[in-house]
Order: sequence, then structure tokens, then C-alpha cells
Amino acid sequence: MTFKRHTVTAALPYANGPVHIGHLAGCYLPADIYVRYLRSKGEDVKFICGSDEHGVPITIKAKKEGITPQQVVDKYHKMMGDSFKEFGVSFDIYSRTSSKTHHETASAFFKTLYDKKVFVEEITEQYFDEKANQFLADRYIVGTCPKCANENAYGDQCEKCGSTLNATDLINPKSTLSGDKPVLKKTKNWFLPLDKMQAQIEAYIDSHKEWKSNVSGQCKSWLNAGLQPRAMTRDLDWGVKVPVDGADGKVLYVWFDAPIGYISATKDLTPDWEKYWKDKETKLVHFIGKDNIVFHCIIFPAMLMAEGSFILPENVPANEFLNLEGDKISTSRNWAVWLHEYLLEFKDKQDVLRYTLCANAPESKDNDFTWKDFQAKNNNELVAILGNFVNRTLVLTHKYYEGKVPVAAEYNKTDLLLLEEITKFPAKIAASIEQYRFREALGELMNLARLGNKYLADNEPWTLIKTDEKRVQTIMNLSLQISANLAVLMEPFLPFTSKKLSAMLNLNTGLKWNDATRTDLLLAGHQINTAALLFDKVEDETITAQVQRLEDSKKMNEEDKSTEISQNSKEIKTEVTFEDFSKMDIRIGTILEAEKVPKADKLLKLLIDTGIDKRTVVSGIAGYYKPEDIIGQQVSILVNLAPRKIKGIESQGMILMAENNKGELSFVSPTKDSMNNGGVVK
Ligand code: MF3
Ligand code: ZN
Repeated sequence: MTFKRHTVTAALPYANGPVHIGHLAGCYLPADIYVRYLRSKGEDVKFICGSDEHGVPITIKAKKEGITPQQVVDKYHKMMGDSFKEFGVSFDIYSRTSSKTHHETASAFFKTLYDKKVFVEEITEQYFDEKANQFLADRYIVGTCPKCANENAYGDQCEKCGSTLNATDLINPKSTLSGDKPVLKKTKNWFLPLDKMQAQIEAYIDSHKEWKSNVSGQCKSWLNAGLQPRAMTRDLDWGVKVPVDGADGKVLYVWFDAPIGYISATKDLTPDWEKYWKDKETKLVHFIGKDNIVFHCIIFPAMLMAEGSFILPENVPANEFLNLEGDKISTSRNWAVWLHEYLLEFKDKQDVLRYTLCANAPESKDNDFTWKDFQAKNNNELVAILGNFVNRTLVLTHKYYEGKVPVAAEYNKTDLLLLEEITKFPAKIAASIEQYRFREALGELMNLARLGNKYLADNEPWTLIKTDEKRVQTIMNLSLQISANLAVLMEPFLPFTSKKLSAMLNLNTGLKWNDATRTDLLLAGHQINTAALLFDKVEDETITAQVQRLEDSKKMNEEDKSTEISQNSKEIKTEVTFEDFSKMDIRIGTILEAEKVPKADKLLKLLIDTGIDKRTVVSGIAGYYKPEDIIGQQVSILVNLAPRKIKGIESQGMILMAENNKGELSFVSPTKDSMNNGGVVK
């Protein structure tokens, strides 16, 4: 089936932090390449995105920063929008889900399903944090994933194995607000009966055999497990209010409202929005990261089916994850390359990052970004292949012909072969793009530059110029044609460079993809402009500085971790009565003997004079004290602790130790020498 127009969306990022390279490689860059290609083909396309401003991630961030959720989303919406723009992500609209249009659209969508009696209304027990006096949905709750045993799974999803979860599925649930074990409390919610829609969804997914295997694989596994009803409302106060009676204090589930954000954004973009969402001749494609697959392939299509008037996603080309220097990208650990920082530090080098991320895109498996590779891609590919070819061509044209395109008077056999090769590139690259194989497409683009380089190297116009001027004219003409075709074909991938090159070549603006099947974009006599380098080398120092920054944040995290320990110990244990406390008999004693306990690294066997008696105590302090150094040391000892056998030795009491942030130990002992053994510690 051929389509008349395209609606292309990129996942609405949560407005709770800046954009990093993982986001870009996951969906924004491939989506942008795809859309730029479609525009170049002259297709009718709308590229839709915006900020996802609801959901628990936002409220958690607000709490952390001590500001309101609205302040959080205002800050990050602007920041993300600005950096996408500067990076050349060419959304037709970058909207937001806190907008009036969105609240109205999401609300009306819910109401339609409600009126059609699609939802199952059910009172269920949901987790509730009594300290925070709040229901705990989604990311407000963590626990052990029942599927893969990851201990940090969220109430809605396990990021380790990708399963979607319900909060009540978690083993050992814990509130992220208070750290407490939550209680169950009854509440009413509206469920989308995915179980009843299983056959319909199965048929839909089965009808898309062309989907990427990582995508259809995930879908199949959910379908095999059997779809479950899923609550589309939440007991929270941040979000789109549930527009029915008896739903006070409830909002739409963020994964209900957010994908509708694509529709609201299109409404904000054009009064013609319905064409882009309801006409069967529109191809709807969602670019997302792999953690979003179930929501776009199952839940959102189910919502659209239930509503009835919308088209369904035609494809959902999800990428896997990008790692950074061998480690998972993490906002909280500051293990990321932040787009806004990159744009400041690497001014006018957007295309270098675009190139590296596309060449390394995690299309079929997780992939790694390293700064060394970034440097290598820049120096060995962009500079050495693409930049070098174009530069040689332009410099020689200025040198021999004062910047005027020479006539190709006669083609020899190699030229004819070359001409034929050149004309094949638009179709080759297009085929890869249309199958969402952007790395392959970029590889083909570079092959065109390689072809040009080889042509120059084989024909050596700089030598021939002394003997065969006419031949050189043809060689230079053809090299210029290749440069022009490169300018057109690189646009989706390297839009800034394309612009620069087009300006240098003084190319017609408005050239389209298929123009690159021609080999006469530059006519003889056409005047080109001054040549400048398209790319310059990235030096070792630059890379070292970036790697150093990452090392620093790793160190800082380790330090944070040790303060975390001390913060944990700041948490006060359960209250005890004075009677409880006074049950403990703590005395001053003196260590008389100390020796290592065989086969136990940490233990010392101590003989202690307690003033009442002499007794043996086994203590875990061998890592901090040598036996010979502590003879005569005064200590505090709990003398009425029930005896316990440790490594076969009966320990008759416990000495008190103080522990610092790093877990280092020191004795708790009197500071006056005059204190007698047997003195009471109280
Ligand atoms: N905010 C989600 C995320 O960052 C993506 C939402 S996509 C949409 O994972 F479809 F819901 F908009
Ligand atoms: Zn899991």
C-alpha cells in the first residue's frame, strides 16, 4: 500500500531532566533522519513531538528540588526544546502535555471510551503510603521484579527485563517517598480490558510482519503471557483530571495521556490535523526507545481501536539502548553526555555527534558510545574521507579554473562506470532508510564519498594537469558532480554540513532527493564560492577532557554513596522506652589480652577486665586494630548480653564501637584516665 502522507512521532520525553545522547540515539536522531529524507522526497509529512509533563517522574523531581511540578516542567520543557532545535532535530511542532489543547483532547478521549463503556470500573486494593498520606503508583514504588528478580523494579515497569508490571506484582514493595512498606487500601479505578482485546491486538501485530525483530519479539512475549486489564487512572494530583463523576483526586494514567499528546500536538500544529490521524492513506510511524515498546505497540493501539476513528501505527521502529564508555547511561549518576553541554563545548559540531550516533545507533542491540570512537569517527571518516574529498575537489577547481565548473568534454570507460555508480546511490540509501536501517544508509552515503576519493586518487588530476588539461576538466567536473550529489544526499544525516557544502558549491536551494540521480547538478561555467573545511580534527586533549569529566562524576558518585551510608544511619530506629534502655548494663573495662581468631580475618578474641570479672569477648575489629596495639585500652562493654558462640568461642558480651561514614571503627571509651573498670556507662 502506498501512502499519501506521513505522521511521524518521536517519544515525548519526560520533562524532568535534560536530553542526553541516549535519547538522541534511541529515537530523536533516527526520527529526524527519516523525516528529513521524506521531506527531501517531496512527501507530505508532519514531525510531532513535545514534552511529557505528567506522571510520577515529574513529581518526584519536584520533590527532590523543592519546587512545584509546574516549575519542573517549565524549566525542562524550554531546555529540551532549545537543545533539540540547536541540534537540528526538525520537529514541525514541539508541544507539551500541560497545554490546554492537550488537557481537552486527552479528557475528551477518555470520555469517549467511558461513554462507549469500554472501561471496566473496579475497586481494587492499591498501595498506600501512610506517612505520606498518598497512593503509590508507578515510580512511587519499587520492589523486586517477579520476572527477573531485579530489586529496583518500578511499580509500572522493570527497566532490567523490560516487563510492564502492576505495583501489586512487586515482591517486597517499598515506598520511594518514605522508604516504608506500603499498606493496601481500597480505591476505584478505570481499567482498559486488554484481556478482552487480546485477539484484536494479536491480529494487528500479526499483520505487521515487517516490524523490526526486537519490536515484534517483545510484543509476542506479552501476547504469549496473556494481556491483563490495566488501570488507566491513578490516585494522584498531577495530571489530567479524570473527567467523570466520582473521580475526585484522580488523574489519567500518564501512559494514557502521553501518547494522546501526539494528537494534541498535531492539533496545535494544523487545523488539518484529522487528515494526519484519521485518513487511511496516512502512514503513522512512532520512533521510540525499547522501554516504550509495549505502550506504543499494544496499549496505545488498543486505545485507538477502542475509540474507533483513528488510524493505527503502521510501524514502531524502536531502538535498543546506547551505553556510555561501557556503562549504562544514568541521569542520577550523571553518567551521560548531556546535549546542552555538548552544544556549548562543541560549537558548530552538531553533525559530528549526529554522525557518530547514527554510525553507532543501537538498532538491533545495545551499543556503546566512547569518546575515543567519537574522535576516530571524526578524524578517520568525516575529515579523512568526506571532508578530504570535497576539499580537494573545491581547492583544485579554484586553482585550475578560478572556481568555474569546467566542461566534461569526453567520458572514458572509467568515467562511464562512475556515472552509472553515482546514479544508484539515491535508491540504495533510500532503501535502507525506508527499512529504518540508518547505520547502513549512512555507510552507503560514505561509500559515495569513498568512490569520489578513489576516483581522484586513481586519476591524479594534479599530475595530469601538466600533460592533459582536457582530461583534468572531465575529472574535475565529475568530482564536482559527486560533491553536489553528496550535498543533497547527506542532508538527512548531516544537515549543517549539507548547508555549508551547498553554499560553497553555490547549489540551487530546493534540490530534492531524486535530483541526486542526475550527474549534472552543476553546469559548466557555474561559479562556486570559496572553499572552507567541512570538518576539522578533534585533538587528543579534547577527548581526554571529556573522559576526565566522566571519571570525575564516577568519583563523585562514590563519595555520594558513602554519605548515603551516613544518611541511612541518620534514620532513627524505632523508639524504645527508658525501661528498655536501662535494661542494658554497660561498663567500663580494660583489654587485658588480644589475639587473632584463626580462619577469621575480621575477628579478635579479647580478654576484658570488667571490674566485676574477666571475660572473653569476640569482636569484629581485626581490620582496624592490631592485637598488640590495644592491650590496656579502655572500652565500653555490654555485660548482660546473652552469650553467643562465634567460631567456636563463647563471646560473653560486646564492646561498643563508633563507626564513621567510611565504615571505619573506633572504641567508645572514657577520656579520663581516672575511670575505674566496672564503672557504669549510662
Ligand atoms: N515520557 C516517556 C519516556 O520518556 C515517553 C512517552 S511517549 C508517549 O519514556 F507516547 F507517551 F508520548
Ligand atoms: Zn524484571
